[in-house]
Amino acid sequence: MRVDPEVVPRPRPDRRSAALHRAQVAVLARHAARRRPLTVVDVGSGRQCWGERLVAEFGGPVVGVDRDRGPRVRSGCEAVLARAEALPLADRSVDLVVMVQTAHHLADRRRAFAEAARVLRPDGALLVADAVGATWHELFPTALAAARRRMPDETEVRDEAASAGLCLAARGRLPLAPARRGSEIQVLVAAAVTHQIDTEIAAGLAALAADPERIYPGTVATLLVLGPAAVA
Ligand SMILES: C[S@@+](CC[C@H](N)C(=O)[O-])C[C@H]1O[C@@H](n2cnc3c(N)ncnc32)[C@H](O)[C@@H]1O
Repeated sequence: MRVDPEVVPRPRPDRRSAALHRAQVAVLARHAARRRPLTVVDVGSGRQCWGERLVAEFGGPVVGVDRDRGPRVRSGCEAVLARAEALPLADRSVDLVVMVQTAHHLADRRRAFAEAARVLRPDGALLVADAVGATWHELFPTALAAARRRMPDETEVRDEAASAGLCLAARGRLPLAPARRGSEIQVLVAAAVTHQIDTEIAAGLAALAADPERIYPGTVATLLVLGPAAVA
């Protein structure tokens, strides 16, 4: 059984997504400087739809940097086509660099962290959060194992950031995905499980179909707050 991600409908953004984005931005704000405006760069911004919320919270400018998307400007949020390893931004020009679900994608994390360190102001912060595995991913063990292999652990991230002169200042918790019903997860499977074997897709989808009302808890990631000066 092959599931084509192009033909499987994705759940539309709903009230839970809006609530999630509000909660995420509130967590980011808790770990940023209090003054406003702040300049924010979202590295690996992808389809992230929280740019406008970042503008509202931090006063902008907000720049989304992604190797696959841009350029686009929407409500004060500018999308730029660039690599995390070569940010097209001036030294000491940014207050907050955000990397959510991005660090594990980067070809050269040390270089990307060095770039974040270069562009950050002395009281700025780099916020890194990566996680795999909402509870329902357990239904697709091969994909889950493959995704976990790609994830850097916290020690790796801290060591790599330290080599760029960024030290751990604090740790937080960042919600990444809302709880979902089994019936909703069925339409997410194609996008989420890429290293999949057919029998597992079938078994996982059968388990979801057998109990479509079951609620699978969402995902919360550890947020690492890294700053140019050691505060911890
Ligand atoms: C899993 S998505 C995360 C998107 C978004 N941050 C979120 O939380 O929904 C990872 C994104 O990182 C981008 N990416 C991967 N490597 C990159 C690089 N070297 N420089 C810039 N963006 C990169 C990908 O194109 C993709 O959009």
